Amino acid sequence: MNYGNQMKKIITVVGARPQFIKAAVVSRILQNDPDMHEILVHTGQHYDANMSQIFFNELNLPTPHYHLGIGSHQHGKQTGDMLAAIEVLLLKEKPDCVLIYGDTNSTLAGALAAAKLHIPVAHVEAGLRTFDRKMPEEVNRIIADQLSTWLFTPTEQAIINLNQEGYADSRIIPVGDVMYDAALFYIEKAVQTSHILQQLNYQPKEYILATIHRAENTNDPNALKTLFQTLDQLARTKPVVMPLHPRTKQILNNHDPSLLTNSLIQIIEPVGFLDMIMLEKHAALIMTDSGGIQKEAFFYQVPCITLRNQPTEWIETVALGWNKIVSPSDADGVLTAAMNALNSRGIENQFPFGRGNAGNLIVDFLKKGMIDAHLDH
Ligand code: UD1
Ligand code: UDP
Repeated sequence: MNYGNQMKKIITVVGARPQFIKAAVVSRILQNDPDMHEILVHTGQHYDANMSQIFFNELNLPTPHYHLGIGSHQHGKQTGDMLAAIEVLLLKEKPDCVLIYGDTNSTLAGALAAAKLHIPVAHVEAGLRTFDRKMPEEVNRIIADQLSTWLFTPTEQAIINLNQEGYADSRIIPVGDVMYDAALFYIEKAVQTSHILQQLNYQPKEYILATIHRAENTNDPNALKTLFQTLDQLARTKPVVMPLHPRTKQILNNHDPSLLTNSLIQIIEPVGFLDMIMLEKHAALIMTDSGGIQKEAFFYQVPCITLRNQPTEWIETVALGWNKIVSPSDADGVLTAAMNALNSRGIENQFPFGRGNAGNLIVDFLKKGMIDAHLDH
């Protein structure tokens, strides 16, 4: 390992769409720091051009040094294949730290591979909980936190969660939310370069933006059908545009393709982050099961309905009145909540996601943390 005044080597493991956005924030800072050398590893969990490459192009993420090409599988095989492949390159590269983001299978594999080799793990977005272990993300984040040396928390609630689980304060580093950094950094580029509203022929605040992809909403085709029928009904009142995740598209194609072709919902391919920012910012309402999109709705002060049977890990958005959790199987509840939310605003004088400098705080800490870890040995 490199210690003392030598350059520090960080291996960043990413694989899924939201991780490319989060990593872009920190990578930019690492690239400009002469003391840090980042090696980017893409597990290949997401691989369609509009789920992966578009983010590297738009957000200036460097081409991954390693692309593991793991692809789509059941959880065990997907995570296991990643684990074995990451282990090989960790043994070769001998990094000072492995940097992981969020709560996907790529996060879990990165944490486990590094911890087994006694390499410090830094977890960005640590401490989030829904307290529902049926969600794959909850399992991944609990284990990733357990295995991490440093826990970069985005919110006060994340710190409370970790404290309740007995984590030592010395491992918890409050930095704020890297997604807020991303929202601040890319808004200007989005305004300058995105033409998505013109392309779709929408006026600001005259459409609803919807996304659905979580396992809880897609695994049961009948429940998914009910949700699509509800959104189709809503689209009679206000246009609904839905950039469709490939998971959801595949399930609809297999079980009820007419929901794709005969729907009033305007279903489009997944879009890049810059187009997504514009779609979010100008939406009258956002309806989603995404973790990241709930928060982006908050950042752009757009009312949000989170379509989940589980609580959200971002409870601040609910507490401050911008987000409402509604069961997707409750058609009447969804329609009523949508109508109410279209006319509502939340509390505007509180901002619980940091100062938009999470990336800088993370890199500053990593430099210091790695020196301290060395001195402790
Ligand atoms: C994963 C994360 C989820 C996160 C989401 C972000 C896990 C367990 N889940 O869910 O927490 O919210 O990413 O988008 O890690 N597929 C394609 N092309 C792609 C990628 C996926 O067609 O480029 C299809 C495949 O049919 C695949 C399915 O989507 O089986 C699910 O992909 P997967 O990466 O396993 O999970 P996500 O639902 O994307
Ligand atoms: N996103 C995007 N294009 C899309 C859908 C989402 O750029 O078509 C962005 C979105 O703005 C957010 C992130 O992807 O920053 C959220 O990813 P996703 O909803 O896939 O995962 P989650 O946050 O639920 O893990």
